[in-house]
Amino acid sequence: MPTKKTTPPTSATKIAAPADTLGRPLHDLRISVTDRCNFRCPYCMPKEVFGRKYKFLPQTQLLSFEEITRLAGIFSALGVRKLRLTGGEPTIRRDLPKLVQMLAAVDGIEDLAMTTNASRLAKMAAGLRKAGLGRVTVSLDSLDDARFRKMSGAEFSVGVVLDGIEAARRAGLPVKINVVVRRGVNEEDALAIAQRYRGPDYIVRFIEYMDVGTTNGWRTDDVVPAAEIIETIGRELPLEAIDPNYRGEVARRWRYADGSGEIGVIASVTQPFCGDCTRARLSADGRLYTCLFAPRGHDLRQLLRDGATNEEIETFLRGVWSQRTDRYSEERTSKTPGDDKVEMSYIGG
Ligand code: GTP
Ligand code: 5AD
Ligand code: SF4
Ligand code: SF4
Repeated sequence: MPTKKTTPPTSATKIAAPADTLGRPLHDLRISVTDRCNFRCPYCMPKEVFGRKYKFLPQTQLLSFEEITRLAGIFSALGVRKLRLTGGEPTIRRDLPKLVQMLAAVDGIEDLAMTTNASRLAKMAAGLRKAGLGRVTVSLDSLDDARFRKMSGAEFSVGVVLDGIEAARRAGLPVKINVVVRRGVNEEDALAIAQRYRGPDYIVRFIEYMDVGTTNGWRTDDVVPAAEIIETIGRELPLEAIDPNYRGEVARRWRYADGSGEIGVIASVTQPFCGDCTRARLSADGRLYTCLFAPRGHDLRQLLRDGATNEEIETFLRGVWSQRTDRYSEERTSKTPGDDKVEMSYIGG
């Protein structure tokens, strides 16, 4: 990452945001740079939603790179140390390496990651690395062409994604691989992906299918519990539980008993982790969401475009964070209303 820091410090550089009402600090900011995607994973952005096509945000409504970077600087002053670029698919945003370069220069940021479907990484990985990207997390749900197409809605072969993963590794980017597991659709792929990506270069994480958004028709029966995934893989490749890397890590970590690497499971349905949730999410049009399941966000774009000073924006963010009460995954029941949630493709994963 470049060492030169170019973002002017804000007045509150040394005063982090207060913890929220449940004592959780603000540590991660996940930045969606576009709501568009070239995939149509049915669990996120199904091809047809009740017969309607998607309506995407017009260009003028997106935050500019300058606006995103300015907000990142203010969040850093409030205690954020980790930035994750998301989408939709972030590599679709024009000139993304330029934004990466700007964010890599923000004072205080220790971890700059990106979640991607890897379809464009073969072309872009080296440039993103050069611009200052620290690592990537790739979504990959199957190695089998037919099931890959079913899980991703993509019109091309899974080889494109595998090439993207390889390009990222060759560019020197640490790679995590996220696998959403759906009952009766790609359960059998979990072991195959674990086997293929076992070793020091990759960490595969298996994700319980979640009830995000309103369009994916989620049912409890579709969820494969993380414990079951660990049992299936552990039968073939013995596993041992290991400690988290940091407080609030979303994945529970397991290592192969033979020392050949590690995997993780993200059990947000069967073992929710809201108690340590330090994540804020910024949509591509500048709304701040304090939970992946929140019905509404706080409009930061309006503040920016109305000429608010950094101090005014900081004060606003402190107010939002200090009043935060979100713990959706812990409160979820079969009776939880499902019709008022932000879409995953709008807010990133
Ligand atoms: P590392 O920094 O590499 O540890 O990963 P991360 O904590 O940034 O997690 P990542 O973005 O890879 O998240 C993987 C998946 O976990 C997401 O795509 C979501 O499905 C789920 N997830 C991540 N954060 C949350 C969260 O705050 N709440 C819930 N319910 N699920 C989450
Ligand atoms: N459940 C779990 N994870 C999801 N993602 C998207 N939709 C869902 C869902 N319904 C995650 C995938 C993908 C990332 C962008 O978001 O892991 O990798
Ligand atoms: Fe696109 Fe990722 Fe959503 Fe799939 S999960 S549709 S790749 S944003
Ligand atoms: Fe955080 Fe909301 Fe996810 Fe709970 S459900 S971990 S509060 S984003």
